[in-house]
Amino acid sequence: MADISTEFAGLKLKNPIMTAAGPTSRDGMALLNAAAGGAGGLVAKTVSIRPANVPRPNMAALKNGPIGSRRGMLNAELWSELPVEQWLEREYAIALSSGLPLIASVGYTPEEVSQLAPKLEKARVNAIEFSTHYVGGHTEIAKALKEVVDIPIFAKISPKDNVAEVAKSIEPYVDGIVGINTYGPCLRINIETGKPSLGSIDGYGWMSGAALKPIAIRCISEIARAVDIPVIGVGGVTSGEDVIEFTMVGASAVQVCTESILKGDTIYGKIAKQTDDWLNEHGHDSLDDIRGKALPHLDGSATLAPPPEVDLEKCTLCGLCPKSCVYGAITVDKKEDLFEIDKDICEACGMCISVCPHHALSPS
Ligand SMILES: Cc1cc2nc3c(=O)[nH]c(=O)nc-3n(C[C@H](O)[C@H](O)[C@H](O)COP(=O)(O)O)c2cc1C
Repeated sequence: MADISTEFAGLKLKNPIMTAAGPTSRDGMALLNAAAGGAGGLVAKTVSIRPANVPRPNMAALKNGPIGSRRGMLNAELWSELPVEQWLEREYAIALSSGLPLIASVGYTPEEVSQLAPKLEKARVNAIEFSTHYVGGHTEIAKALKEVVDIPIFAKISPKDNVAEVAKSIEPYVDGIVGINTYGPCLRINIETGKPSLGSIDGYGWMSGAALKPIAIRCISEIARAVDIPVIGVGGVTSGEDVIEFTMVGASAVQVCTESILKGDTIYGKIAKQTDDWLNEHGHDSLDDIRGKALPHLDGSATLAPPPEVDLEKCTLCGLCPKSCVYGAITVDKKEDLFEIDKDICEACGMCISVCPHHALSPS
């Protein structure tokens, strides 16, 4: 077994998979369930000075049916509908009884967060994450928090921000950066009714899940290159391979929201196991072996690759790659046990490598 434990800002996690602020961290019991499902650390739903008045419906998968989870979802949920007093008196204590590190999430203005943060610290949460999703103003909030609490502070950044610039400007006041929040606003119409799927005033919602991951990976890679403090990745984590990808762009841990909504609490432990399996299969002892591995390759020099290589031991002749080869360079014939790439026609576009479910194709 590889060592998948991680440590950042003084928090020690048995695995790098955390909950994220959202419906699956909505109260103490939800957080306990996530711990039982194998999470390595807990992030609670965002609290603010007053409970949120949430529109309904407020969640919609991007595609109905089983493949919905492969695309993601929209939401118009706000912050916690529970009064902050209830969190302080009851919910954080329930979550802390799991024995896992607990990060409280708080919003939104500098005045609001500096009023709430000392109370969160008194409730013995291990760290505070602040969200600026609705109001911006990262530096003012970070400074205000730093003045009133001693526990680690994490800033959560939105994809609409210039993430590297924001991260650099708040680095002196925070212990880590979390990226990213949902993307939007977006709109989904229920074509049976002709109405928006979500009940927000304009019908708008915010996108999360698998479709968000490439944006999140880009953001984390920019943040990790801009700052020297820990970075935590969130956005579209659905598997151990996603954890590896976030680690390779510099993440010390990840958070999971949408996939836990779609798949339930056991997803955290499943993703942790897949992460461990991947490291073992690739001969690595720990996540430290691969952390930041991709960053030196993001130096702005474009590549010009030759056609891909095929590993015939791994290829099952499933026929997926010729379907997505727009140049018609790949021939697969299961009956003849034939796989061929015509290197004169192949444009080395890379699509076949990314669609192969068996990792049989690789860049030469
Ligand atoms: C229904 C829902 C509610 C959310 N509520 C919050 C919240 O209260 N505070 C916050 O900072 N982020 C919130 N988020 C954003 C998530 O924490 C996370 O940043 C985002 O969904 C991307 O991760 P994912 O692709 O794993 O869902 C919410 C996301 C969803 C889907």
